[in-house]
Amino acid sequence: MRIPRSFIDDLMTRVDIVDLIDSYVSLRKTGQNYKALCPFHHEKTPSFTVSPDKQFYYCFGCGAHGTAIGFLIEYAQLNFVEAIHDLASRVGMDMVYEQGTAPVSITAFDNLYQIMTEAAKYYREQLRHSPTAINYLKKRGITGEIARYFGIGYAPPAWDNLLKTFDNNADIRNQLLKTGLIKQNKNGHYYDHFRDRVMFPIFDRRERVIAFGGRKLSKNEHEPKYLNSPETALFQKSRELYGWSFARKIKSTQGIIVVEGYMDVMALAQYGIHNAVATLGTATTYEHLNLLFRNVSEIIFCFDGDNAGQKAAWKALKIVLPLLQAGRQVHFVLLPDGKDPDDLIRFEGTQNFNQRLKQAIPLSTFLFNTLEQQVDTSSIDGRACLVDLAKPLIMQLPAGPYRELMLQKLSELTGVNLMTRAKNNAVVKKPFQQRKTSMRDISALDQAIVFLLHKPALSVDYPQKDLAFLKQQDIKLLLNLIEFTKNNPKLTLGAICEHWRGTEYEQTINQLAMQEPLFTENDINIDEEFRGAIKQLYKAYVTQRQAQLQDKIMDLSVEERQELNSLFQFMSQKSH
Ligand code: UTP
Ligand code: MN
Repeated sequence: MRIPRSFIDDLMTRVDIVDLIDSYVSLRKTGQNYKALCPFHHEKTPSFTVSPDKQFYYCFGCGAHGTAIGFLIEYAQLNFVEAIHDLASRVGMDMVYEQGTAPVSITAFDNLYQIMTEAAKYYREQLRHSPTAINYLKKRGITGEIARYFGIGYAPPAWDNLLKTFDNNADIRNQLLKTGLIKQNKNGHYYDHFRDRVMFPIFDRRERVIAFGGRKLSKNEHEPKYLNSPETALFQKSRELYGWSFARKIKSTQGIIVVEGYMDVMALAQYGIHNAVATLGTATTYEHLNLLFRNVSEIIFCFDGDNAGQKAAWKALKIVLPLLQAGRQVHFVLLPDGKDPDDLIRFEGTQNFNQRLKQAIPLSTFLFNTLEQQVDTSSIDGRACLVDLAKPLIMQLPAGPYRELMLQKLSELTGVNLMTRAKNNAVVKKPFQQRKTSMRDISALDQAIVFLLHKPALSVDYPQKDLAFLKQQDIKLLLNLIEFTKNNPKLTLGAICEHWRGTEYEQTINQLAMQEPLFTENDINIDEEFRGAIKQLYKAYVTQRQAQLQDKIMDLSVEERQELNSLFQFMSQKSH
């Protein structure tokens, strides 16, 4: 079932985020915006703000932010499709589905949950009748108790288990297809997605089964070791964490441990560590971490002690930086080579493992250690390189004492004085602005994106094809955004975010959308700043293109020579 993007665009122009949020938390008008005590964290004075112009909410206290749809997902715990249904019914729109898919009502949606629950029950039942599967679990040291706790089951080898179990009628087949539990081959035959696998049900925050992970039993090399449910209306893996439905109930003072696998979560729980979650065959996302940080103040990444695990840890570090407001902490546990938490806790026991958690290294150490390994800090070039590598990362931290300390540390390591500018800024700025992300700390490209997100009516004076020449990451996003806003200048920030939900741009947009200065200061001259940012990008293009043409100065065509000339002219006009 797919809801067309045009429907969502349309929906977003009709929904009012103020009405919506006001039906959950009562809002008070202050100036152009509305305020309330933040529903996502405890506070005494309201810093939760809803902007009708931008159709966006944000909290200066905890950083929660999003659209109307996002609010329903995060606060009312609806899933994406439920949120769309809810909003559509509020504004009296009839649901529309992409051609070829049957209209699905909310009741049909409930049926999908029911199917998942019944499938989980069926798999559990099958486990009891499979000595092979039971033996496998036993060999891996899993107790019956913990298997029951996690609802572990078994999918038998045959191709048609589910259709034999459920009524084999068109309606049920359709629903099974939508849950991803069965598939249809080229000849129209249906077959089970999971066969001969130990089954891990994946629960959502409301403890409904939304997907499965399956571990193969056979030694067949052609089969992937783990198979997960595909993304469905119920299951988006960038949002879900295995074990979260269990871990969230533990009022833990220790924060949450993020591990890589199902088996790691289970083994840790069996050994008394109940606050672990795992990603589901994907890298950790911003949404995962945002979800966790709204519930706990500390995250410990505990990835496998192999190359892939280290890479995953570094990736997680890069994603978590913007979320590190005061009071939040991130630590990393580096496991011995080739070991994962499952192996280790079974080998060394709870006490030793807890010791590792206690000795987890803080993010700052992990960041500097990792980068220092890449460069030779005894040379000037190496130290300069370290500044180039570390500074952009540090600047992604929210402005505040932590960021200052990180910069200070970088200064100490390299001998480069990085603090002067920050200090000068602090003097010039009004005190309450100190903790804001300064727009100057992000690249011209990201600035251009931010301004366009907040003011879609902006227009660009330079040819887009020239900007497309730039190979920077995010340039594609900027060009798409320019094109999209040109055709729809009345869009709000909220509508733009929703338009790109579920695409490769979602994460970047999500991170860039929340720029405090743009929500609070009316004195930013967005038009001028935007023009400046685009001009900077254009200059970068001119420089790069000039270099490219000069490289082959002997074989330039007539057109290319003209082009080079006009590039020189441009530079001489604009350089002063
Ligand atoms: P690992 O390969 O580290 O698995 O994958 P593991 O937890 O140690 O598994 P065992 O001990 O061999 O049974 C970690 C996670 O990566 C995803 C799964 O979510 C798994 O839990 N994964 C791995 C896949 O999605 N597909 C694969 O083929 C392998
Ligand atoms: Mn393992």
